[in-house]
Amino acid sequence: MAHLIAPSLLASDFANLQQECEMLNNSEADWFHLDVMDGLFVPNISFGIPVIKAINKHTLKPLDVHLMIEKPERYISEFKDAGANILTVHYEASTHLHRTLQAIKAEGMKAGVALNPHTSVDLLMPVIEEVDLVCLMSVNPGFGGQKFIEGTYRKVSKLKELITKANVSTKIEIDGGVTSANAKDLIECGADVLVAGSFVFKSDNPAGTISELKNS
Ligand code: DX5
Ligand code: ZN
Repeated sequence: MAHLIAPSLLASDFANLQQECEMLNNSEADWFHLDVMDGLFVPNISFGIPVIKAINKHTLKPLDVHLMIEKPERYISEFKDAGANILTVHYEASTHLHRTLQAIKAEGMKAGVALNPHTSVDLLMPVIEEVDLVCLMSVNPGFGGQKFIEGTYRKVSKLKELITKANVSTKIEIDGGVTSANAKDLIECGADVLVAGSFVFKSDNPAGTISELKNS
């Protein structure tokens, strides 16, 4: 299957969100990646449920919601109501991860788990059957525009092996510092979904940049 592109609206113009949504609707973007930060799990605060609801009114493409918040299990139904199709929680923020994944799926969403750069992919082995998407952080979460961590390639290959061995269809998503310089290598290692914020929204032609990533 061809890889998917999920532009992160964290780097978009928040004062012109409707226009940014329309640009993505008319582009080769597959999903909208929405980064929710609480100022506790990560040192930054981004946006939350009301903004996601507003974005949902302007697109039919799936909303891929990445929760960088403590105790994400508190808000599962609220994010469903806001329009989330894929809900990703951090391994490091979820004490009862198995239960949280079940609760996300019970709401009819796809369940994702994000791993910080220091967290080993082996830790997902006991729950991999329950995980629709693994988001490998290729920067430390909290901010857009950071430098890609090269050790990510190793993690992608290792995770791909784990998924193949378990005979499941879990997708691998890469988040942070993705550009046309690393997209092709990431896909070759086994990545299925590429998130890109700054590289897309800070470029002169965002739709063209999405297309470049899609055709990597
Ligand atoms: C970082 C977020 C990312 C971020 C990626 O904490 O999870 O989704 O928006 O931005 P870039 O592509 O600029 O690294
Ligand atoms: Zn993200």
